Amino acid sequence: MLGLQGTVSNRSLQTIYHTHVVKNILTPRGVGRNDPLMNTILPEPFMLAPMAEITTPALRKTVKGFSPHVIMYSEMLSATALVHWGMCNDSLSSRHEFDDPIIYQILGDSPELMSRACELLSQNGGYAIDINMGCSAPEILNRGWGARLLQDFDKTRDIIRACRKAVPSRLSIKMRSGYQDHDIPLLLDFTRMFQDEGVDFIALHPRFAKLSFKRKADWSLIELVKKHVSIPVIGNGDIIDPVEAVAVLRSGICDGIMIGREAVKSPWIFQVCHALMSGESSTITIPVDKIFIEVLKNMQDMLPPEFHKTRAHRFCVYYSQNVAFAHDLFKKIRPLSSIEDMIPVVRDYFERNPHEAVKTYHIDNGTLHLANPGE
Ligand SMILES: Cc1cc2nc3c(=O)[nH]c(=O)nc-3n(C[C@H](O)[C@H](O)[C@H](O)COP(=O)(O)O)c2cc1C
Repeated sequence: MLGLQGTVSNRSLQTIYHTHVVKNILTPRGVGRNDPLMNTILPEPFMLAPMAEITTPALRKTVKGFSPHVIMYSEMLSATALVHWGMCNDSLSSRHEFDDPIIYQILGDSPELMSRACELLSQNGGYAIDINMGCSAPEILNRGWGARLLQDFDKTRDIIRACRKAVPSRLSIKMRSGYQDHDIPLLLDFTRMFQDEGVDFIALHPRFAKLSFKRKADWSLIELVKKHVSIPVIGNGDIIDPVEAVAVLRSGICDGIMIGREAVKSPWIFQVCHALMSGESSTITIPVDKIFIEVLKNMQDMLPPEFHKTRAHRFCVYYSQNVAFAHDLFKKIRPLSSIEDMIPVVRDYFERNPHEAVKTYHIDNGTLHLANPGE
């Protein structure tokens, strides 16, 4: 165990962002993937976070339409289901033409099942296989899966060893910063062990599991882990502003930025990030109404009917936040089970509120101005 004592002070994304803005790190340097800051292992610094019932092929297709290079994750896939019920070719785990680069995330606690799941998923030829050590849902933790692995160092090492042997491409970990509380020595021991066992990169959501989404993500822990290991570290948690995302990336605190909830609300966020990285002036116009309907139609096309209600509702909760009367809009969608019935509700909302149908981002010399032309 490392001899580190005590804790570092909690530094939210806002604190880190403002520190670095003061240092003028917003000055554009290089262009996106060719940026000299970019670590060679990662082909791209921005990632769409894995989100159960959300990062379906339907959302991934739309995200890719805006940002062809962004790295995307599947929903978490149970190793047990993959191995015992042969779910490798179903709608959650199959690979589409736009799924490049795609990372398949697996969930479980058995080295045997997880390594077998890795072998099966590797046949899809994705960019990497990721081990879920971040999920904090009680039903997952009770099974010993997700962030619960952070309570068993030796078992986790066995899992990584078995999976490393089974994955010919890249192996990654998506983790919380602890289980019951922040334990910095343990976090550093885990991340060093990942590196020693051949993990290619780590994505860290710096809230301990028992916090779920309470308090702010503690980005000082990302900085700490980045200094501790030599493999790339991806920072994740609470990013809602593309300017912040680019500033944090340029600060060198981490090697990549993963965005979850905000990317469901704004599937175009990575395009805005890339535009900011380029340092060039540009205008990005988003048809908010059409994208709403596009994702719902993608679900109709790509997901089996039994998934429509759950996946559409999950997406609508986040995406509705683009409009002023989000609560009213979702209240009308919630009782509906079929996407066919949801689409007219969405159309009706924007017909009554046409000024909310389009968002325009003006990017100029690293600054961002958002305007809804109808306002
Ligand atoms: C609805 C939902 C589902 C999620 N499912 C997963 C998951 O399957 N695997 C995982 O590693 N993290 C999952 N997460 C956590 C996200 O990947 C991410 O770490 C978290 O939302 C923090 O990032 P954000 O603040 O950008 O949203 C989920 C989060 C949400 C909101």
